[in-house]
Amino acid sequence: MQGTELLNGKKAIYPGSFDPITNGHVDIIQRGKKIFDKIIVGVLDNPKKMPLFSAEERVELIKKTFEGDRAVEVKTFSGLLVEFARQNQADAVIRGLRAISDFEYEFQMALMNRKLWSEIETLFMMPSLKYSFLSSNLVKEVFQLGGCIKDLVPPVVEEALKDKFKNSNK
Ligand code: PNS
Repeated sequence: MQGTELLNGKKAIYPGSFDPITNGHVDIIQRGKKIFDKIIVGVLDNPKKMPLFSAEERVELIKKTFEGDRAVEVKTFSGLLVEFARQNQADAVIRGLRAISDFEYEFQMALMNRKLWSEIETLFMMPSLKYSFLSSNLVKEVFQLGGCIKDLVPPVVEEALKDKFKNSNK
């Protein structure tokens, strides 16, 4: 999209743990921007999931990745996704589908969300094939074992991972 030209005035929520954001997530956000005027990235704040990065750190990494991009907003949320979507007057929820194995869980979530709020639509988007194997968990594992993650995450994330683990004996 060029400048401030409007597509349709519609907003989508892109929720997730983003622990941390990967290039697969970035790819989905870029694709979402072709359909929606605003993508609100919703970072789940759920300490029970024991994330590597705090919710604030995860938000900061996404904000830095999309610095200067007015079509992308980043917020944390806790509790029900549909409540977050309602509060933000979202028209849809975007979820990335990498493989058939993602489908069952995603289908269940989408239908539960619809049961909780009949107005919400879920849109599944496929990332580029080159990211179809990618997950935040694999990135963390590969990094900790000394593998190269350069093409898998935004540069700010690679730096943040280096910082996180600089005092641990990798
Ligand atoms: O990146 P993730 O961990 O696959 O994202 C999962 C997420 C955050 C989308 C999901 O856990 C969620 O929506 N959590 C909020 C709680 C909720 O609404 N649960 C009912 C959904 S069916």
